[in-house]
Amino acid sequence: MGESFENLVVVEHPLVKHKLTLLRTETTGPKEFRELVAELTMLLTYEATRHITTKRILVKTPLMEDYGEIIDDKAITIIPILRAGLGMADGILKLLPNASVGHIGIFRNPDTFQPVEYYCKLPPNISEDYIFILDPMLATGGSAAFATKLVKEKGGKNVTFISIIAAPEGVRVMKERHPDVKIYTASLDRRLNSHAYILPGLGDAGDRLYRTK
Ligand code: PRP
Ligand code: URA
Repeated sequence: MGESFENLVVVEHPLVKHKLTLLRTETTGPKEFRELVAELTMLLTYEATRHITTKRILVKTPLMEDYGEIIDDKAITIIPILRAGLGMADGILKLLPNASVGHIGIFRNPDTFQPVEYYCKLPPNISEDYIFILDPMLATGGSAAFATKLVKEKGGKNVTFISIIAAPEGVRVMKERHPDVKIYTASLDRRLNSHAYILPGLGDAGDRLYRTK
């Protein structure tokens, strides 16, 4: 029997597939790349927030009063992993403008592919929040697993990970180390190459967002 990833949700939608194909394309420049990352993040957020509770409030329309439902987006914390995760923050904040934002800075050692932390600033009292960690690329899973560990050490319990592209290797690592964390992604790609880049992937997300190569 094939391997199953109960921790993974691949968001299957024509809009997601369309925008992801444009994002992968080598000739897509940084302006369009950033716009596509924000748009894809919004589409993924739509699915990744399905479990959030709503509260009933009375609403007065021009015609009558009735009950409606709203999300308490102050009870939501989003945490982009720097750098590339920053590109996703605007997209999710368009939908959840009152969310708190934490930042975790991690880069991969290019030889060992191990995560190296260089910054961590999280809001206080996140234990009751819905937490969304953002990083477009889930490759070896080292950065994602390390960031999730930091968030849990600060009290985070209800953690969801949103990526744009995931490799099976990274999903496996998250399943082993953080089986409680559900991952939402636009694509489960084939595998990693010898430099731990995702195939077919999109290249280096940070470099494409910020034209640093
Ligand atoms: C990239 C990407 C992830 C990480 C994924 O960041 O944005 O954070 O690699 O790889 P992993 O799953 O093997 O850990 P990078 O280290 O290139 O840093 P950057 O965002 O600053 O460019
Ligand atoms: N980080 C990236 O930006 N791209 C990959 O394919 C893997 C890690």
